[in-house]
Amino acid sequence: MRENRKVQKGFRQKTLTLVASALVGSFLGFGASADSSVEAQKLLSAQRDYVKYCANCHGEEGRGDGPYTQMYKVYPIDLRLLAMNNDGKFPAEYVRKLIDGRDDIRKHGQRTMPGWFDELWSSPEGKGSKQANERVNALTDYLSRIQITKAD
Ligand code: HEC
Repeated sequence: MRENRKVQKGFRQKTLTLVASALVGSFLGFGASADSSVEAQKLLSAQRDYVKYCANCHGEEGRGDGPYTQMYKVYPIDLRLLAMNNDGKFPAEYVRKLIDGRDDIRKHGQRTMPGWFDELWSSPEGKGSKQANERVNALTDYLSRIQITKAD
């Protein structure tokens, strides 16, 4: 009985340490030392998704200078400035819906930016709504982390 409790306590402590290192990892951003943490893994796959699905238009760093931009009349905006252009607050819900693309939240003008939910629903990296939602959320989180405070 007593032995059992000891084991349980040890297990709980281990879980707490894992959660803590995931949190630290997410505060430090990607490239943090807590590579194995769940948060860091999510960010890494969001970065992979970004490079694969977004960088052609928005550029590797989100500057809006990807190779496809010549094809469009509307320039993809600099994705690092989303917070700056919104009184310093990253518009997470707007961005998430825009990436998802299932309801068009723009009232005016034509949309050039493709929606991604359907594409992510069935992709080489995974299938189904749950993972597609998670990847849209992770991409939103990724973009929130590349925000800058001054244009360069
Ligand atoms: C085919 C080119 C293209 C690709 C690929 C693309 N975008 Fe866009 N994106 C645009 C254009 C063009 C705009 C400018 C607004 C518009 O006309 O729709 C835009 C705008 C945006 C905006 C800002 C919208 C606003 O109103 O402020 C976000 C956020 C965004 N894209 C995220 C992404 C993400 C994340 C991906 C990858 C999953 C992605 N985009 C892939 C072309 C693209």
